[in-house]
Amino acid sequence: MDLSDVGDDLTEVLLIERQILDRIAELARFIEADYAGERPLLVGVLKGAVMVMADVARELRLHVDLDWMAVSSYGEGTQSSGVVRILKDLDSDLTGRHVIIIEDIMDSGLTLSWLTANLQSRGPASLEILALLRKPNKARPDVDAKYVGFDIPDAFVVGYGLDYAEKYRNLRGVGVLAPHIYQ
Ligand code: IMP
Repeated sequence: MDLSDVGDDLTEVLLIERQILDRIAELARFIEADYAGERPLLVGVLKGAVMVMADVARELRLHVDLDWMAVSSYGEGTQSSGVVRILKDLDSDLTGRHVIIIEDIMDSGLTLSWLTANLQSRGPASLEILALLRKPNKARPDVDAKYVGFDIPDAFVVGYGLDYAEKYRNLRGVGVLAPHIYQ
C-alpha cells in the first residue's frame, strides 16, 4: 500500500520507500565491513521489524541467520508503557554468536534497553543494535544503536512495519499519523 492510499490519515510523509531502501543499502555496507568473515545472527523484533529485517537481510552480502522475538511494550496506545513482556522467545542459542538486534524504531529506548540486557545475559560474542528510525528522547537510558537509519521528529509515525492499533504496517513508506486517528 502506498502512503497516498490512506488519504488524510497522515499529516506528513517522512520517508518514501526509495529513501528507506537506499539507506538500508548504506547500513548493509557498514555491517559487511564490521562482520567480514562472520555469520551474524539477526534478531528481528516482531512485528514492527518485519519489513526492515527482510530488506536488511536481503541487502547483506554475508551469510546471516535470522531469528525473531516478540515483545510487547505499547498495547494499543501511542505512549510507551515501560512494561516489556516476552511474547515469543528466540529459537537460537546465542552463546558465542555475533548478534544484531533489528528494530523498527527507538523512542524511549525502554524496549531496547530491556532487550539488550536480556540478550547480553545469554553469552553472545557481541551484541549490536540496528534501528531504522530514532526519535529524539531525553529520557533514553544508556542504550544506543550502532546502526541508525534516520533520526526523525518526535511524532507518532506509521508505515514500513510500524502500526497504530495494528493498522498501516503495510505502507511502503513512513508518515506522521494524523491526530484525529488516535484522539
Ligand atoms: P520505546 O520502548 O519507547 O523505545 O518504543 C519502542 C517500540 O514502541 C517500537 O518497537 C514500536 O513498536 C513502538 N513505537 C515507538 N514509537 C512509535 C511510533 O511512532 N509509531 C509506532 N510505534 C512506535
